[in-house]
Amino acid sequence: MLGKLIRKKPVSSAVSLSDQITDMKSRQIPAHVAIIMDGNGRWAKRRNLPRIAGHHEGMKTVRKITRISNDLGVKVLTLYAFSTENWKRPKIEIDFLMKLPGEFLSTYLPELIEQNVKVEMIGNFDVLPEHTKSAIHKAMKETANNDGMTLNFAMNYGSRLELVEAVKEIAQLAQEGVLSVENIDETVINSHLMTAHLPEPDLLIRTSGEVRLSNFMLWQLAYTEFSFTDVLWPDFDEQCMLNAMKEFQSRSRRFGSVEGENNA
Ligand code: FPP
Repeated sequence: MLGKLIRKKPVSSAVSLSDQITDMKSRQIPAHVAIIMDGNGRWAKRRNLPRIAGHHEGMKTVRKITRISNDLGVKVLTLYAFSTENWKRPKIEIDFLMKLPGEFLSTYLPELIEQNVKVEMIGNFDVLPEHTKSAIHKAMKETANNDGMTLNFAMNYGSRLELVEAVKEIAQLAQEGVLSVENIDETVINSHLMTAHLPEPDLLIRTSGEVRLSNFMLWQLAYTEFSFTDVLWPDFDEQCMLNAMKEFQSRSRRFGSVEGENNA
């Protein structure tokens, strides 16, 4: 009698992160993921904490997202850590943000090395405080020979400034007769950007419910898939990253073409 009872299957618990990663890796993983890490201030405000507490918590998210991106097989992870417009913030906040790379790298550099991660930076390096420069410089030097994922910090980065600098360099070459105007094309412009050595981002994520680019990689994002989430950056965890990846994998990328047609 008992044997005839139909046993109900136990309700399966949520699929583990590692099973989701394995499943995702059977489909296309974006080679370059760029993230606008937003919402640190609001995260802190909701807890009656100073804004810098949100940035500090955001630093811990950087660690988590770096690790899972590397596990997924992402080749480049670019994180918008400080924009050319962020100098307008209160001095106490700027000083804190400038100290974060030092704290992050002195705490986590050994595990970045263990994960074979290469640290790089885009942005205007020269005007950063000495302690920020030396922390980034040390990490870049110590990870220069790593050939795993590139963790690329956009620090004192602004896309319009980057384009202005590129235009000036190209104009200079034209003026010197090294480059003719007819030969200026997309490849030439690309080669004068700070991202010249990187693939274009396949996926852009912005947290905190804001839906704008805020002067981030305006040229490079021309054909990038966007994923916006209301989650604040300090709360953006591994599952949120996998959700963004799933969204990416569900998209059909046509680059201006028509699905199913070849471009020949
Ligand atoms: C925007 O949130 C966030 C920033 C300007 C800074 C982002 C920096 C981090 C997440 C830490 C970076 C860590 C390293 C290792 C460099 P917001 O302050 O504008 O948030 P709000 O819109 O809620 O005020």
